[in-house]
Amino acid sequence: MNHAGENTDGLAAHDWAGEAGTRWLAQLDRFESMIAPVGDALLAQAAYAAGERVVDIGCGGGWTTRRIGVAVGDTGSALGLDISADLVAAAADRARQAALANIRFEQGDAASFMPGDAPFDRLFSRFGTMFFHDPYAAFANMRAMLRGGGRLDIAVWAPAAENPWTMSVMGAIGEHIDLPPPQPRAPGPFALGEQDYLAELLQSAGFSDIEIDTWLGDQRIGGPGSDPESAARFVLDGMHIGDLVRPAGEEVRAAVHQSLVDIFERHCDQNGVRMGAKAWLVRART
Ligand SMILES: C[S@@+](CC[C@H](N)C(=O)[O-])C[C@H]1O[C@@H](n2cnc3c(N)ncnc32)[C@H](O)[C@@H]1O
Repeated sequence: MNHAGENTDGLAAHDWAGEAGTRWLAQLDRFESMIAPVGDALLAQAAYAAGERVVDIGCGGGWTTRRIGVAVGDTGSALGLDISADLVAAAADRARQAALANIRFEQGDAASFMPGDAPFDRLFSRFGTMFFHDPYAAFANMRAMLRGGGRLDIAVWAPAAENPWTMSVMGAIGEHIDLPPPQPRAPGPFALGEQDYLAELLQSAGFSDIEIDTWLGDQRIGGPGSDPESAARFVLDGMHIGDLVRPAGEEVRAAVHQSLVDIFERHCDQNGVRMGAKAWLVRART
């Protein structure tokens, strides 16, 4: 980070408590449906039992928290923790509509906040642990949320270079804008892509029995059913990488939009735009 609050990759810091959270909320259903396959795989890995008490870190709109609430049943519970007040309010609203009484949501920074009813049996996170400015301190705090013998299950993106969807999108943007060199460990979607670094973070926080499996699948850009035009709009308006394009002005934005449409047309089937993706499914014990 420099003192202007920007990552050295040139992107504004991921302001999840503010603008980034609001933007995720504005496209909540599309984001959640896009990453649903990773959520399904991580929930299958976690295999929750009735009665377990789970904390869902960076829970966003609460899609995974609701699934966990169902899995642990009336005798168990799930707490969704998120730094964005807007997302916490939306998640609580959706839980009320689903009439799930065993889940609740709290706003807080997972790097420092300690829920009053800690320790939990289990800690879960789908793509909610890659944005910490001090990941060593944050993972130590998350370790402290778990009881002895507790378990962590998290999903994080593999490196950008191993994610065809992001390389294609960055390639389209790079045709029109000089992109800054990537900063692999800077807070952002790919911050925990290096497996050795990820394992070291977990070990330093006091986790053991660390296992990292590969999830390899497809991303439906903009969610299932998106056509190339709407997927391109989604990338530029909804995703963080749209921030790279905004300062370049409307003409450049239109050119990037067209390049994205051209790429997405080559990766479109009857269910929308489909591009390869890779994530790590991590498990560990305290
Ligand atoms: C990529 S979104 C994933 C949301 C949700 N886990 C899902 O899969 O639908 C990342 C989430 O992490 C949250 N987040 C980022 N930094 C956080 C922090 N320090 N403490 C708590 N939540 C955080 C964001 O507000 C956002 O909801």
